[in-house]
Amino acid sequence: MARRKLVYEGKAKILYEGPEPGTLVQYFKDDATAFNAEKKATIEGKGVLNNRLSEFFMTGLNNIGVPTHFIKRINMREQLIRSVEIVPLEVIVRNFAAGSMAKRLGMEEGTQLPRPIIEFSYKDDKLGDPLVPEEYIIAFGWASQQDLDDIVALALRVNDYLSGVMYGVGIKLVDFKIEVGRIWENEYMRLIVADEISPDSCRLWDLESGRKLDKDVFRRDLGSLTDAYTEVARRLGVLPSNGPAPMGKPKLIN
Ligand SMILES: Nc1ncnc2c1ncn2[C@@H]1O[C@H](COP(=O)(O)OP(=O)(O)OP(=O)(O)O)[C@@H](O)[C@H]1O
Ligand SMILES: [Mg+2]
Repeated sequence: MARRKLVYEGKAKILYEGPEPGTLVQYFKDDATAFNAEKKATIEGKGVLNNRLSEFFMTGLNNIGVPTHFIKRINMREQLIRSVEIVPLEVIVRNFAAGSMAKRLGMEEGTQLPRPIIEFSYKDDKLGDPLVPEEYIIAFGWASQQDLDDIVALALRVNDYLSGVMYGVGIKLVDFKIEVGRIWENEYMRLIVADEISPDSCRLWDLESGRKLDKDVFRRDLGSLTDAYTEVARRLGVLPSNGPAPMGKPKLIN
């Protein structure tokens, strides 16, 4: 079989050319990075878990009419996605203060916000993905005002869905980040959810104990990242709930 053409290799994923025009294969690596890649590690099983979890969330979103790039999972580490033109923004939705917001405003982590707050950072690794006001986004042409209105509406729908799903399994959705991309259908452009939705891109706290079940476990050295992600997957029914997987590695249904 001919080797697939590599389109892009990032920190956590690799994109390959897909089987049909307008598609890509997204491969989930085991690599973890934090603090703009200053901290790095390989965490066995992370890619498998994130592939499965992103499939779970994106499928749920597609099914309730929130458009995403997800088409289907191919195997343990790969999924078929629609190729989009990525809007160069990280769209961050916050329900409770944490991370950079808590730091910037001197707020205690976990403080409930009066309403979901959306912020944008400009995707540029060299600059460390700086926070940018809407005015920059429009002035520099990264997105139009209409695009931004659509992106905010999309992000709030994702927030309601994800908050509800998580709450149902005893997890608080503190905040998360999505990426959005453009697709063209005839002459019409649509914005859809792209990249991934996984514990790498969310803050997830156990409702009762406050235990962190997301990438902060890696950022702050709070224990096993695989255990935390496995716990999220198990609660959502993505992994079997009876006992630990053999060899401590994730075991997938079907
Ligand atoms: N449907 C899609 N079509 C095209 N590109 C996509 C799609 N979904 C995600 N991407 C892009 O693919 C890359 C995924 O790789 P990864 O997340 O490892 O990148 P990264 O190291 O975080 O770098 P970046 O700063 O570019 O996000 C990202 O650049 C992301 O913006
Ligand atoms: Mg990324």
